[in-house]
Amino acid sequence: MRPLSQLFFVTLLTTVWAAPRASPGCGKTIESSLTPGGPSKSFTHESDAGQYGIKMRRRIRIALPPKYKDYEPAPLILAFHGKHRNGTSFEHVTQFSDGKLNDNAVTVFPDGIDLRWSGDPSSPELKRNNDITYTLELLTHITESFCIDLNRIYAVGFSGGGGLVNLLACDPTLSSSIAAYAIASGAFFRGTPVDPDTIFDPKLCNPNRTPIPMIEFHGDEDNIVGYDGKQSFDGPTYSIIGWLKSWAERNNCAFNKGEKEILNHGKVDKYNWECKDEEGKVFDKPILQHYLLHGVEHTWPSVPLPLTMAEDADANEFDATEVILKFFGEHELPEEGAGVKEREKKLFEKEGKQEIEGLWEEGKEYEEKKEEKPEKADIKDEL
Ligand SMILES: *[C@@H]1O[C@H](CO)[C@@H](O)[C@H](O)[C@H]1NC(C)=O
Repeated sequence: MRPLSQLFFVTLLTTVWAAPRASPGCGKTIESSLTPGGPSKSFTHESDAGQYGIKMRRRIRIALPPKYKDYEPAPLILAFHGKHRNGTSFEHVTQFSDGKLNDNAVTVFPDGIDLRWSGDPSSPELKRNNDITYTLELLTHITESFCIDLNRIYAVGFSGGGGLVNLLACDPTLSSSIAAYAIASGAFFRGTPVDPDTIFDPKLCNPNRTPIPMIEFHGDEDNIVGYDGKQSFDGPTYSIIGWLKSWAERNNCAFNKGEKEILNHGKVDKYNWECKDEEGKVFDKPILQHYLLHGVEHTWPSVPLPLTMAEDADANEFDATEVILKFFGEHELPEEGAGVKEREKKLFEKEGKQEIEGLWEEGKEYEEKKEEKPEKADIKDEL
């Protein structure tokens, strides 16, 4: 049984939002084998994405939440598994489709080609298999088939799936469609000369609006995707701190300002950065958050034991799924136009190439400071 925290059940309808933006699927009859609150089902759909333009069938797992009605726009969560896993196992591990945790968001768990995603250096190059294009196609397919609120689409991923989620957040088109992003044990690979049309170059991170709400969880004993980016299994990755810093920069958050909370008897450090909107007003909702999990390996924080990737019992003391649902529930796409395009201008006109590159060249500085291990509840002192 899942160790269900009794603290809160999460609903993505807790806040009063602007009117939903109904997808073309509203009013369409539910796929016959799916029932609201019933078990998830696997489907295949024809895809034009990647593989040199050759059509192929791709597998997705879909679950409808208990509150789903085919005339009432529902939030949508796209959930990307880690390498060598699949959509079905990711559903089991995360429980995003558990109606007790999530009563109103449709959940979709696609399978990567060869069970991996673009962004992983071992994945085929983009011209052969582009999972960013695929995600766009998948979104079109889902929103035409189900009644989705186009302002409340979210993406979550584990490990290499988290690497893809980062690329979606960086993509001008997808960042205009997906409201908030969540990653556990994210693998953010550094550029590789193997792929000429590289998407790993941070200069190519071009979200179409600001801010991009982002939350990440990472164990400091992760030996598959190392926290400092140095011992990652599939090739060098950006350090988690360096990666967070780059999002702080893009999101207009002060990296040395915000809150650090110590949770679970010192096992979890929660960081919440202070981020400002275009008028310089500090957001009263979380924009950029990070959970540093002490003594935790490469795992989905808090999962039912049989499918964990690491047999680390500590991981079960902290439930990323609940935290992510709550985070998603605080975000929807801004009014059309708000913040859109502003960031792109800033990146290339104001700050310039050198500084942006510098943000990613990170690691040494963090290591030095990490050794000091200050206990002060202020991000400035820790990082
Ligand atoms: C998905 O992964 C699980 C766990 O690794 C495995 O048992 C299952 O057969 C896989 N399912 C499919 C359809 O590949």
